[in-house]
Amino acid sequence: MNRFGALIYDRFLIGASQQAGLAEKRCEALAAASGEVLEIGAGTGLNLAAYPREGITRLVCTEPSLAMSSQLQARSGEAPIEIEVVAASAEQLPFGDASFDCVTGTLVLCEAGSPPAALAEIARVLRPGGHYLFLEHVRSLDHDHARMQDRWAPLWRRASGGCNCNRDTLATIKSSQLTVEKAEVGRFPKAPKIVKPLLIGSAVRNAS
Ligand SMILES: C[S@@+](CC[C@H](N)C(=O)[O-])C[C@H]1O[C@@H](n2cnc3c(N)ncnc32)[C@H](O)[C@@H]1O
Repeated sequence: MNRFGALIYDRFLIGASQQAGLAEKRCEALAAASGEVLEIGAGTGLNLAAYPREGITRLVCTEPSLAMSSQLQARSGEAPIEIEVVAASAEQLPFGDASFDCVTGTLVLCEAGSPPAALAEIARVLRPGGHYLFLEHVRSLDHDHARMQDRWAPLWRRASGGCNCNRDTLATIKSSQLTVEKAEVGRFPKAPKIVKPLLIGSAVRNAS
């Protein structure tokens, strides 16, 4: 996310969706978060109010953009516990192997430079049996809609500051070291048709 995108993110880019039901979808996606939790691409911190109020013992929020993470810091009071903010991209997480019970990420893999590398890192830092909870806008399951996303993807990427509207993120998660336990595709509230399909789910790191 570039600096301008960060400035207008809460009010103009995501605000209407938040009001129209995205805030509830965040709660749904994060309901199983517990123990030591790591969030990737935490942005301006819109998930902080959506975490369960009990059961989380540590909450580390990573975010590579300073313009986003300064807003995240300002919103830290909405979290169920004190948060740690770390500047890092999901492809290079500065944490040891098996150091978290849960990793969360919402609307991040559309922007990440390499989703497979990010997922390899998520699997590495998760403890065996730990969960990755995700909410991502994805490639449409409808052929014609997906072709429309493909056509507009280059322009959308430039206009949005790096968002890829046509990624088959569920397939990428399935091909990682994680096992998908739950995946549902619904609709991104009040979003343009190009980013309408919204995936919510969870995957587990198997004991190796
Ligand atoms: C659309 S915003 C979503 C922010 C927040 N997660 C939310 O749900 O509102 C995408 C976020 O992903 C971050 N991001 C971009 N590339 C990333 C990467 N490689 N690793 C981690 N985060 C990344 C951006 O800086 C931005 O904060």
